[in-house]
Amino acid sequence: MARLDPHSYNDDTQPETETLDWKARVDFRTRRLHAEATLTLKEASAGPLDLDTRDLDIRSVVDGQGHPLPFQVSPPEPILGSRLRIQLPSGVKQLTVRYRTSPEASALQWLTPSQTAGGQHPFLYSQCQAIHARSVVPLQDTPRLRIRYRATLQVPKALKAVMAASFVRREEHGVEAEEHYEMPQPVPPYLLAFAVGSLAMRTLGPRSRVWAEPELLEDATEEFSGVDEMLRAAESLFGPYDWERFDLLTMPPSFPYGGMENPRLTFLTPTLIAGDKSLVNVVAHELAHSWTGNLVTNASAEHFWLNEGFTVFAERRILEALAGPEVAALHAALGRRSLDEAMNHFRAHPQLTALRTHLDGVDPDEAFSQVPYEKGYLLLRAMEDAAGREAFDGFLRRYLDTYRFRALTTEEFITFTEKELPGVLAKVNAEAYLDQPGVPAHAPSPRSKRLEALEALKGKVPTAEVVKDWTPTEWQLFLEGMPQGTSRDVFRQLDERFHLTDSRNSEVLVTWLVAAVRAGWEPALARAEAFLGEVGRMKYLKPLYGVLGASREHRARARSLFQQYSERYHPIARQGVELILSRS
Ligand code: BES
Ligand code: ZN
Repeated sequence: MARLDPHSYNDDTQPETETLDWKARVDFRTRRLHAEATLTLKEASAGPLDLDTRDLDIRSVVDGQGHPLPFQVSPPEPILGSRLRIQLPSGVKQLTVRYRTSPEASALQWLTPSQTAGGQHPFLYSQCQAIHARSVVPLQDTPRLRIRYRATLQVPKALKAVMAASFVRREEHGVEAEEHYEMPQPVPPYLLAFAVGSLAMRTLGPRSRVWAEPELLEDATEEFSGVDEMLRAAESLFGPYDWERFDLLTMPPSFPYGGMENPRLTFLTPTLIAGDKSLVNVVAHELAHSWTGNLVTNASAEHFWLNEGFTVFAERRILEALAGPEVAALHAALGRRSLDEAMNHFRAHPQLTALRTHLDGVDPDEAFSQVPYEKGYLLLRAMEDAAGREAFDGFLRRYLDTYRFRALTTEEFITFTEKELPGVLAKVNAEAYLDQPGVPAHAPSPRSKRLEALEALKGKVPTAEVVKDWTPTEWQLFLEGMPQGTSRDVFRQLDERFHLTDSRNSEVLVTWLVAAVRAGWEPALARAEAFLGEVGRMKYLKPLYGVLGASREHRARARSLFQQYSERYHPIARQGVELILSRS
C-alpha cells in the first residue's frame, strides 16, 4: 500500500474513480447540501476503497444494484478529515453514497442576502483548492487522479446555478429548478466548482461570457471586455485552448482569492473591477492555468510550484504580448518584492521556501505563500535566459504536450527537462531553487526604464507631473518602496496630492493603507477598518490584520474587528486571519 499524496487517504493499490455522477439539493435554510454521489470505478475490484471526506454526514452506501455496502468513517484528522472506507465485494464497479454536507463545510460559503450586491437573494459558492472538495463530495481528493463528472444542482427557482463545466439544461419543477452540467474532460477534484445566486450574464466574445449579480454586470462587462484578445494571445503562445469556453464569474466580495482557475468558468474577486482594466493580469493568470495547472497538474501540494510558478511565467508572457515588456517587467518587480516579503515571513520555516516542499502533517493552506509563485517564476525565467527564448518556447510546448491531462512531480519535471534542455538545470543551479531555502544569489532581476525612474524617487514626494503617466503597478512599487521610518508628514502630503485613501484600485489602496497604518498615520485607519468589512480577499485581509495586530495600539481593535466581521469571510480566510491574530 502506498499513499502518494500526503493530503489524501487515497491508496494507489486501490481502484481509481473514472466518473462521478453528483446530485445535490441546495438548502439555504439549513445550509446543507443533500446529496448523492455515484462513483464509477475504472475497473471492478474487491477489497477496501478509501475516500476522503470532511464533515460529511454519510447516510448510506450502496452498489450499482442498490445493495448496501459495509462502510466505516474514521475519526477526523485535523488536516485530512475522515477516511471513508467502503468494503467492495468482488465485481463491484459502481457505488452510490448518500450524504449531507455540514453547514461548516470548509469549501462552501453561504451568504445571506445582505452579503450580496443585490441584497434580495442568498448566495452560495464553493472553493475547493487545495483540499476542500472532500467537504462537498466523498472522493479521492488528490490531484494525481482525474475524474469526468455529471452534476445536477437543485436550487430555488429564483436562482441560477453555474458550474465550472458545460451547461446541459435547466428544468423547473414547482418552486425548484434543476440545473444540469457535465464535465467531459477529466479534471482533478480541486477544480470542481459551482455557485448559486441571483446571476445574469453578458457575452464578451465568441468563447466568453461574464456572469455577475445584475447590479455588477455592466461594470464587470466593461472591465473584462478584453478577454477574447487575451485568449487569442495565450493560444498563440501555448497552443490551442482545450476547454471550449472561457467564461468568468464575478464573485461576491468575500471571495477569498483574487481568482480561481475553475475550468470553463474562472472565479474572480469583484475587487478587480477598478474601472480601468488595470488588474486584468489576474484574468491572464487564471487563463494561463488552462494550460499550466488544469491540463498539466501538480501531483500534490508538495509540487504546487509546478502549477503556480509556470502560471506566473505564462501570465507575464501574456502581459508582454498584450502590453509590452515594460509592463511585464513592472509586474515581475512587484513579484520580486512579494517574494522577499514571503522569505521574511517564513524565516523560522526555511524549508517552506524551497520549491519542492515536504508537507506531511502540514496544511496546504498554511504553507501557502508567494514562494511557489515567484521563486518558481524566477527559476523558469533563468531557464529561459539560459536556453534562449526560442528553445525555451519549444520546451514549454513539448512539456504541455507530454503531460496534458496528467499530473507530475518535481522529480518528473527534472527528468523531462534534462532530456529536453540538457545542461540547462545545472547552468542555472536549479537545485538552489528546488531544494534550498531563500532566493538564489544570481536569480534574474527585472530591468526596465520605468523601474529605474522609480528607484530614483525613493522616499520622495513626487510631483503631479512625474506621476501623470504612472500605472497602478508603478504606484504600488513606489509605495512599497517607501523606506521604513518615513514620516507621517510624507503620508499626509502624498494623500493630499494624490488621494490615495480614496483609490478605486484595490492593490494600490491596500498597499497604501498598510504602509500608512504601519507609519502611524491615523487618517488611514478608518478606511482600513471599513475595507476589512467590505472585502474577504485573503491577499488583503492578511497584511491589513497583520499590520494592525503588530501594533500594540491597534491589536485589540484588530481582534474586535475580526469578531465583528469574521461571519462575512469564507471559512478558509477566517482560518488564515485567526492564525495571524493568534501570533500577534
Ligand atoms: N489557484 C490559485 C488560487 C488558490 C491557490 C486557491 C491555492 C486555493 C489554494 C489562483 O490561480 C491564484 O493564484 N490566484 C492569485 C492570482 C494572482 C497570482 C494573479 C490570487 O488569488 O491572488
Ligand atoms: Zn494561480
